[in-house]
Amino acid sequence: MRSHYCGEITEQLVDQTVTFCGWVHRRRDHGGVIFLDVRDREGLVQVVFDPDTVDAFNTADSVRSEFVVQITGRVRARPAGSENDNMTTGKIEILGKEINILNKANTPPFPLDEYSPVGEDVRLKYRYMDLRRDEMQHNLRFRHKVTTQIRNILDQQGFLDIETPILTRATPEGARDYLVPSRTHQGSFFALPQSPQLFKQLLMVSGFDRYYQIAKCFRDEDLRADRQPEFTQIDMEASFIEEKDIMGAAETMIKDIFKQQMDIDLGEFPHMPYSEAMSRFGSDKPDLRIPMELVDVAEFLQDIEFKVFAGPAKDPKGRVAALKVPGGAELSRKQIDEYTKYVGIYGAKGLAWIKVNEIEKGVEGLQSPIIKFIGDDNTMKIMEKIDAKNGDIVFFGADKETIVNEALGALRVKLGLDLNMLTREWAPLWVVDFPMFEETSEGGLTAIHHPFTAPSCSPEELKANPATALSRAYDMVLNGTELGGGSIRIHDQEMQKTVFEILNISEEEQREKFGFLLDALQFGAPPHGGLAFGLDRLIMLMTGAESIREVIAFPKTQSAACVMTAAPGEVPAKNLREVGIQLRAKETK
Ligand code: AMO
Ligand code: AMP
Repeated sequence: MRSHYCGEITEQLVDQTVTFCGWVHRRRDHGGVIFLDVRDREGLVQVVFDPDTVDAFNTADSVRSEFVVQITGRVRARPAGSENDNMTTGKIEILGKEINILNKANTPPFPLDEYSPVGEDVRLKYRYMDLRRDEMQHNLRFRHKVTTQIRNILDQQGFLDIETPILTRATPEGARDYLVPSRTHQGSFFALPQSPQLFKQLLMVSGFDRYYQIAKCFRDEDLRADRQPEFTQIDMEASFIEEKDIMGAAETMIKDIFKQQMDIDLGEFPHMPYSEAMSRFGSDKPDLRIPMELVDVAEFLQDIEFKVFAGPAKDPKGRVAALKVPGGAELSRKQIDEYTKYVGIYGAKGLAWIKVNEIEKGVEGLQSPIIKFIGDDNTMKIMEKIDAKNGDIVFFGADKETIVNEALGALRVKLGLDLNMLTREWAPLWVVDFPMFEETSEGGLTAIHHPFTAPSCSPEELKANPATALSRAYDMVLNGTELGGGSIRIHDQEMQKTVFEILNISEEEQREKFGFLLDALQFGAPPHGGLAFGLDRLIMLMTGAESIREVIAFPKTQSAACVMTAAPGEVPAKNLREVGIQLRAKETK
C-alpha cells in the first residue's frame, strides 16, 4: 500500500512520486490551500493540496484528525524560510495528487497534535490512542531496542532462552500469589509465578548451565510508581559460578546497554555491604547521587532527661541519627512541618531539628526547639561530630532502628531531590552481604531475599546464629532504585532443610510445597546462582519516565485493574460452577 514510511521521506526524494499511509495528525486551511500533517510510526510528513487537483482537494478538505489515509504525491523542497530543522522531513513537503480515506475516526478523547493535560485514567482507558503519542512510541521502541540488545549479549555469552510455566505452584518472593482455579482438579489452584526462581534452579540441575528468560512475573502486592502486579524480569541463572562471575556478567550487560543506547559510561560499580548502606543511608538501595549521610548521635544522648531521645539511644534495637542538610537553614517552618508530616508516613513520631546560623557563637548561634532538652554541651558535641556549617539544618530521628532508617532514609532522598542536590546523573552500585533473615512483626524470621539463597556460613553456624548470619545475595541499585537482585543458591539438601527449619516451615509443609526441589537437590545439583533485573524499572530509569506505567504498553492502574478491558471482571455463574467456586456474599460496610 505504500512506497515509504511518512517519516522516511527526505530531500533525497525530491521530484519523486511517493505513496504513504498514516493518520491525519493535523489539518490546516491556508487561504485556499489544505495542509495535512500525516503521521506514522516513523514520523510526520507535511502534504499540500492545491484546489487545481479538484477531487484530492475536496477529499483532503473533508478529513478530520486521526482519519486513516493513503496519499500519493510528488516530493518537493519546502519554500525557503518554511523549513523545519526539528523534523527529518522538515526540508520537504508533498504536493498531494491522490488521497484515499482508508478509515474514518471519531473525535479523539484527547488531542494528539498538541499537549493537553489528560488524566491517567483517560489515557489508560483509551490506551491505543495514548500509544500513538510520540513519547509512548519512543518508550516502547526503546524498550524493544534494549531487549534485543539483551538477547544478543546473553546469546553471545552462551545463555539459553528457555520458557518456564505460567500455571504453576507458589514461588515465595514475599508477595501474595495470583491464583487460578483448576476445572479438572476442583478445589485446587495454580499460582502464577512471582518469578521463575524454582524452575531456573531445576534447569541448572538438568545441566543447561546458563539460562535466561525475559519472563512475566505476577505479584499481588501494594502498587507504587515502580511496581506493577504483572511485570517483566530479565531472569538469569548459571552453574559452576561464584558471585564475581554472575555479578560481573550482569554488570557488563548493564554497562553495555547504557553505552550502546545512550552513550553513557557507568564506570565500575562499587560494592557496599548492607550494614554500611543502612547505617550511612538508612536504605538497602541508597541513592548515591545525593551527598548526605545519616550519622549516629546516640552516644551523646543516653543520659539526658528527654525520653524521646534517651529511650532509643539506650535501646540496643533503637537508633538516634542526625541528617545534616547543607543550605537547609533557609527552610521555613511550614516546609519543616511538611517534612515532619512526610516522615510520619514511615512511622516517625516527630522530626527534631537544629538550624545552624552562626556556629562560631556556639549554642547562641543555633536555633532549635530541642536544645533545651539535649543540653548545650551535648548539642555542641553533636555539631562537632557532624561537622555542622553555617546555613545547615540538622534533622534528628529517634526510634526503633528500622523506623529511623526508613524515615530519615526517605527524607534524605526527598530533600536531595527537592533541593536539587544531585551530584551526578547516574549512580550505580552493588549492595552485598545481606543478612539471611529479618525479624517479622510476630517475632519469627523471614528470608530477606528468598529461602533458596545460600548463607556465607555452614549449616551449623547458621543454626547457631540465624539472626546475624549473612547471605550470598547481591542487589544492583541505580539512583536509589533496586534494579535487580539475586544470589548464589543452596545446592545441598541439608542446607535447604536447615533454612526451612529456621523459617519455621514444618517437615510436612516442606514436602508439600517444595518436595520437588528437595528431591532435585539429591540428584546431583551443581553449585549455581543467578539474578533477575526488573526490565520495566530499567527502561523507566533509562527513559527518565515518571512511572513504570509509561514504559509498559498496557499497564494496570494503582488499584491493579485495567480500565480499558475492565479487568478483572465478573464471570457467569456457570463458569464458577465449572471450577467449583461459590462466591460469598459481598461484605457490606
Ligand atoms: P526480586 O524479587 O528481587 O528477585 O525481583 C527482581 C527484580 O524484579 C523487579 N521487581 C519488580 N518490578 C516491577 N514491579 C514489581 N512488582 C516488581 N517486583 C520486583 C525489581 C527487582 O530487583 N527470583 C529472584 C531473583 C533471583 O534471585 O535470581 C527475584 O525475583 O527490579
Ligand atoms: P515534643 O516534646 O514531642 O514536642 O518534641 C520535641 C521535638 O522533638 C519536636 O521538634 C518533635 O518533632 C521532635 N520529636 C518528637 N519525637 C521525635 C522522634 N521520635 N524523633 C525525632 N524527633 C522527634
